[in-house]
Amino acid sequence: MMFPKLGVNIDHIATLRELRHTPYPNLIEAAQQVVSAGGSQITVHLREDQRHIKPQDVFLLKKTLPIALNLEMAATDFMLGFAKKLKPDWACLVPEKRQELTTEGGLNLKKNKKQLLKVISGLKKSKIKVSLFVEPNLEMVRLSHALGANAIEIHTGRFAIATQQKQPTIQKELCKIEKAATKALELGLKVHAGHGLDYENIRLLVGFKSVFRSIEEYNIGHSIVCRAVMVGLESAVRAMVSLIQSP
Ligand code: PXP
Repeated sequence: MMFPKLGVNIDHIATLRELRHTPYPNLIEAAQQVVSAGGSQITVHLREDQRHIKPQDVFLLKKTLPIALNLEMAATDFMLGFAKKLKPDWACLVPEKRQELTTEGGLNLKKNKKQLLKVISGLKKSKIKVSLFVEPNLEMVRLSHALGANAIEIHTGRFAIATQQKQPTIQKELCKIEKAATKALELGLKVHAGHGLDYENIRLLVGFKSVFRSIEEYNIGHSIVCRAVMVGLESAVRAMVSLIQSP
């Protein structure tokens, strides 16, 4: 029996660093903690505006990581060239808008098919596995298969918002995810999921019907970094109290 794997998205550790342009927090140290805690993968999104993760971070992570690296990227020629140099284990193609706070939805695979095909085949030629970040609907699953992806990453954002805002659509969103995951497996695609997953809604998702068996990997970032602040704050304060009191 294979247990689902956790990919930890460390973008927001870099966000904290970029708020002040300090040398800390150190991403490699963070990645080492992910490894010690049983994480299977580091996920980073190198955005066009490089607002958190920088190219040099990604190269350094690739060089030092003993676990898989998953690069979230827009399907552009520039990012294809970057990925070919980096050679991450996985590239997850995501839509990208400059002004968004975070990725707002899945890829529209009906538009830009030519560009998507070019990027997907280019990545695969370089032996980089490709996942497509899509909404949980059957058409997007079929198109992902037709485009030659190795996996889909189901956008769980709508489900996450429904849980966080206690909307009545939670069950409906869970059903959509479960159906999309089942279809993807039938077509021979691997199934990943991510976006907005937190310590509450992950229980609902993992416990829903066949999800535990069908979703192989979760990529989770913001909620883990937020939790880390809470569980680590006490020891961080103790260390500073001790330093200012010992001349
Ligand atoms: N998966 C994809 C494709 C994403 O774009 C993101 C956000 O960068 C995540 C997972 C992680 O989302 P969150 O930070 O909300 O856990």
